[in-house]
Amino acid sequence: MARPCGPENTFKPLAVLLFTTKQVVKAMEKEVAKRSQTITPFFNPRSVAVIGASGKQKKIGYVIAKNFIESFAGKIFLINPNAREILSHQCYPSLSSVPEEVELAVIAVPAKIVGEVLEECGEKGVKAAVIISSGFKESGSDGAKMEEELVMISRKYNIRLMGPNCMGVFDSSTMVDTLFIPRYRLKRPPRGKIAFISQSGASGIAFLDWAAGEKIGISKFASYGNAADVDEADLLEFLAGDSETKVIAMYLEGIKEGRKFASVAREVTKNKPVIVLKSGATGSGARAALSHTGSLSGSDEIFNAVVKQTGMIRVYDWEEMFDIARALAYQPGARGNRVAVITNGGGAGVMIADEIEKQGMKLADLREKTLSGLAAKFPPHVTLRNPMDLGGDADNERFQDALGAVIEDDSVDSIILVCIPHTPSIDLESFVDMVLDTKGKNDKPLTICLPGGRVSLEIRELFEENEIPTYPTPARAALSLSALVRYGRLKNGA
Ligand code: ACO
Repeated sequence: MARPCGPENTFKPLAVLLFTTKQVVKAMEKEVAKRSQTITPFFNPRSVAVIGASGKQKKIGYVIAKNFIESFAGKIFLINPNAREILSHQCYPSLSSVPEEVELAVIAVPAKIVGEVLEECGEKGVKAAVIISSGFKESGSDGAKMEEELVMISRKYNIRLMGPNCMGVFDSSTMVDTLFIPRYRLKRPPRGKIAFISQSGASGIAFLDWAAGEKIGISKFASYGNAADVDEADLLEFLAGDSETKVIAMYLEGIKEGRKFASVAREVTKNKPVIVLKSGATGSGARAALSHTGSLSGSDEIFNAVVKQTGMIRVYDWEEMFDIARALAYQPGARGNRVAVITNGGGAGVMIADEIEKQGMKLADLREKTLSGLAAKFPPHVTLRNPMDLGGDADNERFQDALGAVIEDDSVDSIILVCIPHTPSIDLESFVDMVLDTKGKNDKPLTICLPGGRVSLEIRELFEENEIPTYPTPARAALSLSALVRYGRLKNGA
């Protein structure tokens, strides 16, 4: 007998469907949380063992031991069969002789003994191991075999592995620091909202050094080298759930599992922007990547397609990555692509107009109300168009009026302030305060272009400390703003 039709009967299957969809989503979230829990000990362990710790200042095992002793709050165990004390800390001959639980092991011994050391980690119940040592897949077939053995040991004991052939982890809040670069050579960056994942240790170091020099805050850093176990997708998934991370930046040479990476990236970009710098785009680059981290770079066209599908933002050098990361860390995504430009330098205004168009954005058509309101306040030589050239004699008040008016103008989605701070009419200290006063009072992203040398750099720092991204050239300011437009579009589902 045919089932009767009616609102009740059509509603019921829909309710069931919604219920099951909700259940599936919940189950998937649970799975993600479970997987991410296995990554947590790399960044927030209760106890750490440095295996291969050394008292010799030039050794990698010395630097890593020193980093932990100087600033890690959890328990530290140093392991070396040939030393009784290192840096005034008791030294254990082996991991099995440590009387307490060890959550994270940092391994810095020659490749040929890493396997037996890892086996010992397994027996001890270690949850995660960072393997700094080189001499595995990247060095040829014998190394690849040894790497496979590490993976087998890690599966046998359920230990997550980072590396081998990596720098490992830096966490600015727990101060897990496995970077073997001494702190007098590489100042660690302050706490902040940008996480950086890097297949290459050296690229990671360059990025961190830059961040430290510019006082840009970093939440977490991981260099995962050959990705024998933990790979870029695992880290991406983990960072998506990290409350201290607002933006994820990545340096990749290859992708271990394309499908897994694409599906994780697609989910992550719904909540956090992901910036990706991928090398190995040419034949020469791909060959270099193979001998560096044993990575297969793959086709650049396919990678571009993945970038497009997943909503990641691709960049082509460190400077771009850094510029865009700051914009995304500090500012909200834009609602649309209409930009208002306010400047006291006509030439810079023209340049930025060009760059805005090149980046696929457009100059906003300011409302008549905005223009007439400002005309009543400003002298006649002010150009009341977009870009709005306030004149070489513009003072803070003129900037403030213009900024206030474009913030109120509903034809404007974002703002670029191009300020030549050298003119006598500008009071530098209160100029920064005046701009900062607008923070949090509207949802329009703001970037600042501050061309020039010493004077520009001085106020640049004040802005950056207060999370307003500044750039020395119109091109860099426009590129960074365009990332906010793209991310805003993605968030709005456009
Ligand atoms: N358990 C614990 N410690 C041990 C053990 C053991 N079973 N056996 C030896 N040790 C100790 C040694 O006694 C030594 O300390 P000591 O000199 O104070 O006595 C220490 O461990 C290190 O062992 P060494 O044989 O001296 O090895 P060395 O320090 O020269 O090198 C290292 C080890 C750094 C891991 C090296 O093999 C290596 O791989 N270097 C390259 C690292 C690298 O570049 N990684 C990738 C960077 S990121 C990138 O660019 C992709």
